[in-house]
Amino acid sequence: MTENRSSAWYQAFRKQLLSWYRKHHRDLPWRSTQDPYAIWVSETMLQQTQVATVIDYYHRFLKKFPTVAHLAAAQQEDVLHLWSGLGYYRRARSLHTAAQQVVEKFDGEMPRQADLLQSLAGIGRYTAGAIASFAFDQRAPILEANTIRLFSRLTGLREAKTSNSAQSQLWKFAEDILPDRGGSSTINQAVMELGSLVCVPVSPKCSECPLSKHCVAHEQGLENQIPLAKPKLVAEAMTHVGLVIRNPQGEILLRQNEKGKWWDGLWDLPWVELEERKKFSLTPALRLEIAAQFESQLELNCEAIDLLCTVRHAVTKYKIRYFCLDAKLRTKRLPKHRNWGWYSQANLPPVATRFRRIPWDTID
Ligand code: ADE
Repeated sequence: MTENRSSAWYQAFRKQLLSWYRKHHRDLPWRSTQDPYAIWVSETMLQQTQVATVIDYYHRFLKKFPTVAHLAAAQQEDVLHLWSGLGYYRRARSLHTAAQQVVEKFDGEMPRQADLLQSLAGIGRYTAGAIASFAFDQRAPILEANTIRLFSRLTGLREAKTSNSAQSQLWKFAEDILPDRGGSSTINQAVMELGSLVCVPVSPKCSECPLSKHCVAHEQGLENQIPLAKPKLVAEAMTHVGLVIRNPQGEILLRQNEKGKWWDGLWDLPWVELEERKKFSLTPALRLEIAAQFESQLELNCEAIDLLCTVRHAVTKYKIRYFCLDAKLRTKRLPKHRNWGWYSQANLPPVATRFRRIPWDTID
């Protein structure tokens, strides 16, 4: 990052940015209000949702709950109903809870300071900065997807944008560009708008950008490389074996995954993890190993007969091959202290997603 920019640099930066913003900004409903509550509603809706989708929801929500007190007094069900279709319902639940906190702790008045706003449910540093600057013109910085991209390019950031060091450099830049007295509201709106309309993720429109002269990435021809791509998670291969064991009625033996383990509470074939191997062929040695693992991991005395199918899936950084084997029990008794059950295909308990991916029609 180029440090030590002069105050003249910041002044020129703001001047060019504002002159662009005056000409090019979109007329969005939350830009014509200074009501902190309305701004908060809009920012919460905009967190995972496109501007075009939010507009109607924003108007409907404010019509039904015009003030923080109205929202605080509402039934959660009614709040969720108005949110229906926007998704990520945790946002709506937090908004509702935080409205009640505003009534209880702040006498129904939205606090003006970003740090107080951040003490409310669901309000993080970005939303607090947005409310404090847009509604009260506080000198509060903001950083979200659009501004992260814009600031990374402007400053020529050469590290993963999620690292602690990158985040602190970006927040510092977000603050440094704000004027000392008055005007943070428009600067924040303007950087967000520029990030959203011009400094787009792929092929940024540098020829239309009022800040291209100030942009390190542009100067170095790196606008398509910055921000750096997320470091790819190195996938780790894993082998799981599940047994398809049937009783005389044709029902399948299922086991409920234990608390704190993978797919906690959901049902699946009885399964174990095997040591990783490239090739999986059911040799006598592998049969012995499988029987030994089921015995030691699940206390299940069983015999693997044949490979039925393989389901490949991924969980976080793990790339899993799930081998489903036809098998039989060597005893009638199932270990007592685990959750087992015999189920027909038509009458399943809540199962892990991968169980649903077993191609039963081809192996039944
Ligand atoms: N995305 C998040 N906040 C926004 C805002 N205030 N205007 C436009 N897009 C946004």
